Amino acid sequence: MILEVRAIDTYHGLGHILRGLSLRVEEGEVVTLLGRNGAGKTTTLRSITGLTPPRRGEIHYRGHDIVGLLPHRIARLGIALVPETRGVFSYLTARENLEIARRRGSRWPLGSVLERFPKLREVLDRKGRFLSGGEQQMLAIARALLTGPELLLLDEPSQGLAPMVVEAVMKTVLELKRERVSMLLVEQNAEMALRLADRVYVIDHGAIVFEGTPSALRADPQITTAYLGVGG
Ligand SMILES: Nc1ncnc2c1ncn2[C@@H]1O[C@H](COP(=O)(O)OP(=O)(O)O)[C@@H](O)[C@H]1O
Ligand SMILES: [Mg+2]
Repeated sequence: MILEVRAIDTYHGLGHILRGLSLRVEEGEVVTLLGRNGAGKTTTLRSITGLTPPRRGEIHYRGHDIVGLLPHRIARLGIALVPETRGVFSYLTARENLEIARRRGSRWPLGSVLERFPKLREVLDRKGRFLSGGEQQMLAIARALLTGPELLLLDEPSQGLAPMVVEAVMKTVLELKRERVSMLLVEQNAEMALRLADRVYVIDHGAIVFEGTPSALRADPQITTAYLGVGG
C-alpha cells in the first residue's frame, strides 16, 4: 500500500471539515474521490500534502506517518499535487514554469516529460497567462511529473475544460497508470472519473459515504442521486 489515510479530522479555522476520513491507495492504483462542491475533496488533498494538516488521525505514506511534516518534505518523499487552481505562474513562460519545478535525480527529465505533451512543446515560450485552460492543465501535470512522483494527486483536472481536452487529460492519466504511477483523482465529473478509476470513494460533509468499484457505484442510484447530484 502506498497511501493510507486513517481517521483524519481536519479544520479550516473553527470549521471542522474532515470527520474521521479514511481512504487508501494501493501501489499502481487509480483511486477516485467523488463528491459535491464543498464536500471536502480539496481539504483531503491539502491534508495529505501537509498544506492543511489534520489535527487528529494518521496519514501513512509507504508505511511512515507523514502528519506534521512540512509540505516540501512531503513533496520530496514522492507525493505531487496538481492543484485545482493549477498554480501556473502567469508572467513566466511555460518553459520557465517547468524549469523552476525541476529537481535533480527525478526519474523523468524535462525532455521525456515533454514527449507526453506534444501540444505543450509548441507553446513553451508562451507566458502562462496566454495559455488556454487545457494547456495550463497539461503544464500543471507536466510540472508535477518533473518532480518524479510516485503518488500523484489531481484536484479536478477536468474542471472548465472542453470535452476534447478532458479526453486528452484522461489519456495522460491512463498512460501514467500504465507506468505504475499511483493516483488519487478528485473529481466532480463522475463520468471521467469512473472510466479511469480502479476504486472509488464518495465523500459528503467530510466523511466517506461510499467505497467500491466504479460498477458498484453505477449500480447504486441512491448514492449517485444523494451525493453526486446525478441521476442513477
Ligand atoms: N480556507 C478555508 N477557510 C475556511 N473554510 C474553508 C477553507 N477552504 C475550504 N473551506 C470549507 O471547507 C469545506 C470543504 O471545502 P473543500 O475541501 O474545498 O471542498 P471541495 O473541494 O469538495 O469542493 C467547505 O465548506 C468550504 O467552505
Ligand atoms: Mg475542491
